[in-house]
Amino acid sequence: WEQQFLPPALHLDDRARASQIESRLAPLVLCGAALRRVGDVFQRELEAGLRERPSSLQMENTYVPELPDGTEEGVFLALDLGGTNFRVLLLELRAGRLVREDVKHYHISDALRLGPGEELFNFLADCVQDFVRAEGMEDEEMSLGFTFSFPMKQHSISSGELITWTKSFKCSGMQGVDVAALLQRCLRERNLRVTVQVLLNDTTGTLVAGAHTDPEVAIGVILGTGSNGCYMERAERVQHWEAKHERVRDVVVDIEWGAFGDNGCLDFLRSSFDKEVDENSLLPTSFTFEKYIGGKYLGDLLCAVLRGLARDGLFPAPPAWGAVDSAHVSLFEEENLVGAWSQTSEALRAACGAPVTRHDALVAQHVARIVSNRAAQLVSVCIASILRRMNRARAAVAVDGSVFKKHPRISSLMDKYIALLAPHHQFTLQGAEDGSGKGSALTAAIAARVAARSP
Ligand code: GLC
Repeated sequence: WEQQFLPPALHLDDRARASQIESRLAPLVLCGAALRRVGDVFQRELEAGLRERPSSLQMENTYVPELPDGTEEGVFLALDLGGTNFRVLLLELRAGRLVREDVKHYHISDALRLGPGEELFNFLADCVQDFVRAEGMEDEEMSLGFTFSFPMKQHSISSGELITWTKSFKCSGMQGVDVAALLQRCLRERNLRVTVQVLLNDTTGTLVAGAHTDPEVAIGVILGTGSNGCYMERAERVQHWEAKHERVRDVVVDIEWGAFGDNGCLDFLRSSFDKEVDENSLLPTSFTFEKYIGGKYLGDLLCAVLRGLARDGLFPAPPAWGAVDSAHVSLFEEENLVGAWSQTSEALRAACGAPVTRHDALVAQHVARIVSNRAAQLVSVCIASILRRMNRARAAVAVDGSVFKKHPRISSLMDKYIALLAPHHQFTLQGAEDGSGKGSALTAAIAARVAARSP
């Protein structure tokens, strides 16, 4: 069992160099026992979070009480903010089927991502105005689902305060601000007849969109710029409720596992490379688990390791490091899979501005393999823990995000590790397309359905 977690060894003609490199990389290689320990800590933190005891897992009540049942109807706007792109969408559902989807992408400048929050939200409302004008729907009353992919303290299905920014956003003056209310105000100021009906996280959107296609879906996961998961929890196990819930059986809980270990409970995992990535990040000491997994950081990690090897004379010391990002990790893994190395060496030459040998390219591929393997293992620990907790005969996991879609090995590694960590639970990983768009419209329709039912 233990052996199956270990990545393959590095083979170089120069065996001494290979073994020195392997020993430098050892802190990034996790054995089965270490992963079990991570799983145990995750379970403890998850329980504590649900009970509102101190925990690095927020376990946020999203107030989404049920999944699609095929009756969802209506025309909805959706806003998707949080990853690499900002999008406005118009979606039409008929009997639960998506029959129309118009999308427009907008660029968010660095000044907006890092400036005053009010400016960002005014910009979002400008984009909505531009979009409805282009659609010829400026005077129509519409419901909007706001997919806001950051940690929130939710007060209801349609309101929530930002706790902290993550990934590449750091706007001032926003902590504790109700983002749905702020967006609503900015829309009203533009005389738009748009109502923010639901506020949701991208994982929730992914779960809802996934469950729409397959009723066995009970877990939603994002493996993109950042990483996070949510699942259907029994309502009685959730402590925090700000609304009546006697008749609610289940509810979607947003785990916010990106922050797992921020209280120090996972310090045994941290390598010097991770410290370097964290220190150079936009938001140091926060969301440290996400920095082991998210696409925003995998390239930084690859770069930190290669730089460390270069310091020890085990990799060419480059005159300059250009951008090494998660696309490089995917590319190196792709070539490694087919036993090639020419594109790896070309990409390295472009990134470091120095020629590299075949051996150097093989080393870089090995590092990409090690960081990818660890990312897959850590996300698998979380998924396996939830599967064990839910204890259903079968459960499907809806997964979205750029790393899941583009990394050539991640989904097969996850299949393998989840099966090893939750051997008695049947599961499938399903790519879920457009959770933040389709999922947001479906959630708005669910909210309308639930509201119509309440006395
Ligand atoms: C970050 C956010 C979280 C989101 C995830 C994936 O971890 O805090 O809310 O779900 O990124 O986008």
